[in-house]
Amino acid sequence: MKKNKVIKAIFPVAGLGTRFLPATKSIPKEIMSLVDKPLIQYAIDEARAAGIREFIFVTSRGKGALEDYFDSAPRLESALKRSGKTELLAAVRQTTMESGAIAYIRQHQALGLGHAVWCARRLIANEPFAVILPDDVIAADKPCLQQMVEAYDETGGNIVATMEVPPSQASSYGLLDIGEANGNILSVKGMVEKPDPKDAPSNMAVIGRYILTPKVLQNLNRKMVGAGGEIQLTDAIAKEIADSGNVYGYKFEGKRFDCGSKAGFLKATVAFALNRDDLRDDFLEFLRHIVAKDGLYK
Ligand code: G1P
Repeated sequence: MKKNKVIKAIFPVAGLGTRFLPATKSIPKEIMSLVDKPLIQYAIDEARAAGIREFIFVTSRGKGALEDYFDSAPRLESALKRSGKTELLAAVRQTTMESGAIAYIRQHQALGLGHAVWCARRLIANEPFAVILPDDVIAADKPCLQQMVEAYDETGGNIVATMEVPPSQASSYGLLDIGEANGNILSVKGMVEKPDPKDAPSNMAVIGRYILTPKVLQNLNRKMVGAGGEIQLTDAIAKEIADSGNVYGYKFEGKRFDCGSKAGFLKATVAFALNRDDLRDDFLEFLRHIVAKDGLYK
């Protein structure tokens, strides 16, 4: 089957980030940094590695800092150039997006993830597309979305990233009802958003990476209200499972950090800092010391 390449990705970034208040009162959550790189940059780098060329941000009021972040910064760049800070200059230039590669759409009402994705429908038109939730940061040798694009090339179907979670956490995720496994690719019989743990169809949770076909966008036209009173992406995918069965779970290789929670953000910060040559030794020594003292600053 001849398939369109996946070159478009939607980044839903309209959320208020209430779990990180007061910090998020004036900065978008997605600009918060793991070491020195904002969450959104990890998502963009992963998308680029997977062949994404068109980046669609679904934003809301107060997210202007995200637009500035991806803009060129002539004053900053010339100051860095004048002072010979070539590495920093390269790091800054890396964040500038090619003209026309990035589009911002506003989600005027917080009606849920499905609604956010639906807001981008005109830019997606009739092509397959990726959805990346920047809260989910995935450290992997081969970037997670790239692994999924390969699975998409193999199956031609909708692909959702999945990993095992403890049964007690079922109500925090979309959960898959899974069938047979073919390597990392799982056939999927159903999908349910944030079930009560006793109703969870399995312990395979959906993580914030999707490759979807335009049919799923059409399903979102129904504006069906689901779990939590929101329009859920999960329900649009579940309809596609029922209609065509053309949906697969993909057990990605890599370590996922839930940067939408404080504990997850802190774990990611520690892990990413320890992975940096310029920080590891000093930081590790500090961690050993502070752990030995039960976290007390002595
Ligand atoms: C969203 C999805 C959910 C998925 C999760 C992954 O939920 O609705 O299906 O499991 O992302 O992080 P949220 O975390 O936005 O509530």
